[in-house]
Amino acid sequence: MNVPLLAMDGGDAADREDFRRAVLSGLGGSPRAIPAKFLYDARGSALFDSICEQPEYYPTRTETSILRECAADIARLAGPGCALVEYGSGSSVKTRLLLEAMPDLHAYVPIDISREHLDATARRLREDYPWLRVDPVSGDYMAIDALPSVINGARRIGFFPGSTIGNLMPEEAVLFLRRARRLLGSDGALILGIDLKKDPRLLHDAYNDAAGVTAQFTLNLLRRMNRQLDANFDLSAFAHEAFYIEAAGRIEIYFRSLRDQTVMVAGRRFTFAKGDRVHTEYSYKYDTAGIGELARQGGFSIAHTWTDPARLFAIVFLT
Ligand code: TRP
Repeated sequence: MNVPLLAMDGGDAADREDFRRAVLSGLGGSPRAIPAKFLYDARGSALFDSICEQPEYYPTRTETSILRECAADIARLAGPGCALVEYGSGSSVKTRLLLEAMPDLHAYVPIDISREHLDATARRLREDYPWLRVDPVSGDYMAIDALPSVINGARRIGFFPGSTIGNLMPEEAVLFLRRARRLLGSDGALILGIDLKKDPRLLHDAYNDAAGVTAQFTLNLLRRMNRQLDANFDLSAFAHEAFYIEAAGRIEIYFRSLRDQTVMVAGRRFTFAKGDRVHTEYSYKYDTAGIGELARQGGFSIAHTWTDPARLFAIVFLT
């Protein structure tokens, strides 16, 4: 694995202040938690790309294969001349399948929290698709409430792949859908990729890859605190922890202290007993009934559902 360490990885002062505030309140609270969006600095985003290539992490390749099958159907449902708005675009790998199926797209609007990632992705897409208008928006997709005016008049098709909706609490997922509905307009549509409930062992392995990339991804948050918040986490004294809770239908992800220790973060002292955990992420899994209920509460209805033969993952077209 080759993870670039970008020199320009500080984020701006406002991002850093946002991070500082979230970490101090998250480590000071009970239970301790740090919002998952902070996992995605430049190095975290690169590590996440690498997670997606791990053999145990079936969601990416399954969703990609479904998309390959259904991209033409999606293009038909979307219609000509629409604007594709991607929530949390990362490196936009899956998007390419849609872009290639929609040659008459009016514009592609990727939204992402990592500015470095967004700029690099926009540059690559403009190179590979010179006819395509790419208008990136940098920010937290939960908070975006306006889109570039160049897409005014075009039908807005949202794209939220990667089962990222599963990283929201169910009530937040409903709020997200309501916001998306407002942003995309009453004639808009939303393409959603959602991971399905399945054998818990498969789920467990997807978040505990043998190569330890997911562990590095979790521990990168500690590295980021060391770098940006003048913290002194010993990365060898904490471990990644992820497990499936069947009753809640979710994977829970934490970093756990391997011994009693004290850590300084932004001038404050935090004590960890051996075994103490800090929560970083949930990944909810849905069944088809749950997806229907979610869509309904969010103000959408399911126009179409596609899955893989093993029913590991679903893509739905919501209107
Ligand atoms: N959307 C991804 C998922 O829930 C995000 C993810 C994959 C993730 N692996 C992770 C988040 C590990 C935190 C840690 O599947």
